[in-house]
Amino acid sequence: MTTIAGRTPWRGVIVEYRDRLPVTDATPLVTLGEGGTPLILSDRLSRETGCRVFLKFEGTNPTGSFKDRGMTLAVSKAVEDGRTTVICASTGNTSASAAAYAAKAGLACVVVVPHGKVAPGKMAQTIAHGARVVEVEGNFDAALAVTRALADEYPVALVNSVNPFRLEGQKTLAFEVCDALGRAPDLHLVPVGNAGNITSHWMGYREYAAGGEIERPPVLFGFQAEGAAPIVLGRPVEEPETVASAIRIGNPASWTGAVDAASGSGGEILSVSDGEILRSHRRLMREEGLFVEPASAASVAGLSKLSSAGRVPAGATAVCVLTGHGLKDPAWGTSDAVPAAVLPPDAAAIAAHLRLDRP
Ligand code: F0G
Repeated sequence: MTTIAGRTPWRGVIVEYRDRLPVTDATPLVTLGEGGTPLILSDRLSRETGCRVFLKFEGTNPTGSFKDRGMTLAVSKAVEDGRTTVICASTGNTSASAAAYAAKAGLACVVVVPHGKVAPGKMAQTIAHGARVVEVEGNFDAALAVTRALADEYPVALVNSVNPFRLEGQKTLAFEVCDALGRAPDLHLVPVGNAGNITSHWMGYREYAAGGEIERPPVLFGFQAEGAAPIVLGRPVEEPETVASAIRIGNPASWTGAVDAASGSGGEILSVSDGEILRSHRRLMREEGLFVEPASAASVAGLSKLSSAGRVPAGATAVCVLTGHGLKDPAWGTSDAVPAAVLPPDAAAIAAHLRLDRP
């Protein structure tokens, strides 16, 4: 069943966690080698918060976001079911992932996105992998509603996180964290948009706890952007707005799943402002060497917020999930950049420009 050749250290989430996923010998394996992402200790954030802070960098997945964990399973099951077309609504990462896995499987892919609201890198991926793109006038919530209606009426497989196989695949992040640490973290922090991810992580941790792999699940905190925080407000947001376009969502499909994860683990769904997101985003790039997209920084912004409020127990182990790669939305990493100097290829001229001193 292995389709990743050679003695690779990682073979994709379905092969690695096969006994915990709803696959059989009849399930074709559509994988790009997703998962196996690094869990990176942040010295600076650890010092600052008084706990051990690890960053789970999902940007190293094949299409640059955590979506690939669920997409490998959703597309494999779509092929098993004899489907020839997959469809999704997206703020950009789901569509990039669906397009790539559909290409690998030889399926057609249709994506429905909010007009003018998707980061350029994500749109480029989606088009490059050959998906048919429909832009709707309206936000993500409108795109998801119409996509669900299409999937109800036509023979297309819906691969948004309302597809249970997406959540099954995404729960593997929790397994990986526990396997890497040799235990569960105390705190698990994640950005929240459509709320599938936090729902799936809670599933994963509970499964490991039930199986005795860990003593108990961590406390889960989910962070919405202040202008797109329906769960925090307790009501849908008609016109969600935030710089973090991936989580610009006003009526999350897995709302109750997110609430269950937070309340069941003793955590909470909270919001962080765009300013807090962008500050953490910049720090991740400048101090951690991690190029992430703005939405990813919501987990770290959330940790800082909890820490300032004295809500992070000293010595705890915390995991912040960094959900997507910065190359998808590079403008946010470069908007305040000083333009590069154009100089002749002359060492003396460049040294003078840089004011380098000889030893
Ligand atoms: N971070 C990134 C980079 C995302 O792309 C998303 C969701 C989230 C966080 C939130 O995850 O929806 O499971 O709560 N992006 C979806 C998409 C909505 O269409 O790509 P969630």
